Amino acid sequence: MTTQYYTASSLDGFVATEDDSLEWLFPLGDVKEAGFPTFIAQVGAIAMGASTYEWMLRHSDKVVEDSGSPWPFSQPCWVFTHRELPGIDGADIRFVQGNVKDVHPTMLEVAAGKNIWIAGGGALAVQFHDAGLLDEAIIQIGSVTLGQGKPLFPRRVTNPPWRLLSVRQIGSGLAELHYALPGR
Ligand SMILES: NC(=O)c1ccc[n+]([C@@H]2O[C@H](COP(=O)([O-])OP(=O)(O)OC[C@H]3O[C@@H](n4cnc5c(N)ncnc54)[C@H](OP(=O)(O)O)[C@@H]3O)[C@@H](O)[C@H]2O)c1
Repeated sequence: MTTQYYTASSLDGFVATEDDSLEWLFPLGDVKEAGFPTFIAQVGAIAMGASTYEWMLRHSDKVVEDSGSPWPFSQPCWVFTHRELPGIDGADIRFVQGNVKDVHPTMLEVAAGKNIWIAGGGALAVQFHDAGLLDEAIIQIGSVTLGQGKPLFPRRVTNPPWRLLSVRQIGSGLAELHYALPGR
């Protein structure tokens, strides 16, 4: 049972452009080929930041096109926000705010032995990291640069470094790096 930050990033470390576009990402590889179905099958609870959730609300047409539903996850999802955001019919979405340490035990309990997916963005992943709750990072590095945007992990982590567990090529557009965090 691990808490994993799983996301795609540009080569220069951004998960989205500064205006929250992911258009650069979609041509780089097929999500099915990327191993996402295998990954998500092991997930029992999801955490995401408000901007990531709002991206899904804004792009519900694409989400439906890709998955057949405006909310593609069967797992409960904790959305961190200070605001009142709309829910999605039929989705188990729990709006929370504050310290991730207070939310994580409930996520573990609900996940019932499965993994916890920190879907992003980077600032939320950092909060789990800083609370000592992040076990692994699985990053698909796309072969494009954005120059600027929303950072993958807005924190300096140099010593000890993350331990590389595996590298996997996904077509010609993505390389997946799987890391264990120090002490894990
Ligand atoms: N490349 C990928 O695979 C990938 C993966 C994930 C996300 N993304 C993209 O990355 C972009 C967003 O990244 P981001 O890092 O800017 O944003 P984010 O983490 O999705 O959302 C940040 C916002 O979440 C809320 N928040 C975070 N921590 C909180 C806490 N502890 N308590 C209460 N609220 C909290 C705050 O919003 P409020 O205070 O306004 O409520 C904060 O501004 C989106 O475009 C998303 O689609 C890409």
